[in-house]
Amino acid sequence: MTFFTAERPLRLLHLEDSELDHELTLAHLRRNGMVLAALRVDSEADYLRALDQPWDVIVSDYNLPGFSGLVALDLLKAHGRDVPFVIVSGEIGEDTAVEAMRNGASDYLLKNNLARLEPALLHAIEAAETRRARERADRELGASKQRLHELAQHLQTSVEMERAAIAREIHDDVGGSLTALKFDLAWIARHAGTPEVVARASGALETVSLAIEASQRIMHNLRPAILEQGLVAALQWMAARFERRTGVACALRTPQAALAQLHHLPAGVPLVAYRTAQEALTNITKHAQASRVEIDLALAGGVLSLEVSDNGRGLSQDDLAKARSFGIRGLHERAGTVGGWVDLSSGPGGTTLILSVPLHDAPEAPPEPPPPLAEAEDPTGWGDL
Ligand SMILES: Nc1ncnc2c1ncn2[C@@H]1O[C@H](COP(=O)(O)OP(=O)(O)O)[C@@H](O)[C@H]1O
Ligand SMILES: [Mg+2]
Repeated sequence: MTFFTAERPLRLLHLEDSELDHELTLAHLRRNGMVLAALRVDSEADYLRALDQPWDVIVSDYNLPGFSGLVALDLLKAHGRDVPFVIVSGEIGEDTAVEAMRNGASDYLLKNNLARLEPALLHAIEAAETRRARERADRELGASKQRLHELAQHLQTSVEMERAAIAREIHDDVGGSLTALKFDLAWIARHAGTPEVVARASGALETVSLAIEASQRIMHNLRPAILEQGLVAALQWMAARFERRTGVACALRTPQAALAQLHHLPAGVPLVAYRTAQEALTNITKHAQASRVEIDLALAGGVLSLEVSDNGRGLSQDDLAKARSFGIRGLHERAGTVGGWVDLSSGPGGTTLILSVPLHDAPEAPPEPPPPLAEAEDPTGWGDL
């Protein structure tokens, strides 16, 4: 609460046509120890001019010649100022008082009850300060949430770029060397003079083949090269692999009509859709105890939607609030990087996760990770000698 002193008096704008009433009001407040810097105005023009100055509180007579307290209150609002406004009147009916409060007056009181004036002013000022502090805190909280979103989305994008860069390095450096090694070992095996050397070389060839397979797996996890063949092909591959690994039936439905458009999705969208499906399927494996999964890819009204539903045990708000679970939270942020969003619904029949991405008014595309490995240099070719 602000305390008013000679250096910082309470700045009071008084809308009052009677100089005598004005002096009486000030005398009353000063008797109670208030330090004031007051200005009296009684016309609309003077009032509007005065509104350009800073005030702690406005005290207004209800009836002014050619002007009224309620009009003054409207003008204050129109002026965009948030100054507590207290109406004082010789006679004020209940209806008028209610109307004034509805219009944003802080308080009202009768001229013959000036004892209430000081506490009313202090209370109005304090309430306004509290309100302003809350608004400031709300604004700061909003800005902080916004920064957090931006950071999370930036991290998602940079993680993808980093992954793509690592995949490329594995492909170029490790992959190149392993392939050369495989050629050399095959040559040694062919030209070996003794069965021992042939056996050793064949053993080494097997080890190298395993290493090549491992690096392909790692590369695929880092950056799904299959996406090069389009989102539909990638989802088909993912659904088939999921079914094979888990034994849970997984049906993929894709729109026949929009296939061409699905091949020309905006930059970043296929990877976001792919990662969303990946996380949804991982969650189903880990948590759902489902026996059937359906993936629906659709394009309607310029909105791409990817729906993954299971018939498992469902999830609760508590599940989503787990402190150490970032999968679904990450999906929300990831969707945001391409202007989309994720909806999650769950019940006794299972869980459905929907990613929606409007394609037309997609925001500026996030920085594009380096393109995945071109088909000609696809590591799946390494094994063929
Ligand atoms: N398909 C699902 N079926 C049932 N529960 C789920 C499903 N997906 C997520 N959950 C629940 O929601 C929680 C949060 O999921 P997520 O954010 O992906 O984190 P994590 O998988 O690392 O726990 C999971 O721990 C699980 O309890
Ligand atoms: Mg998860």
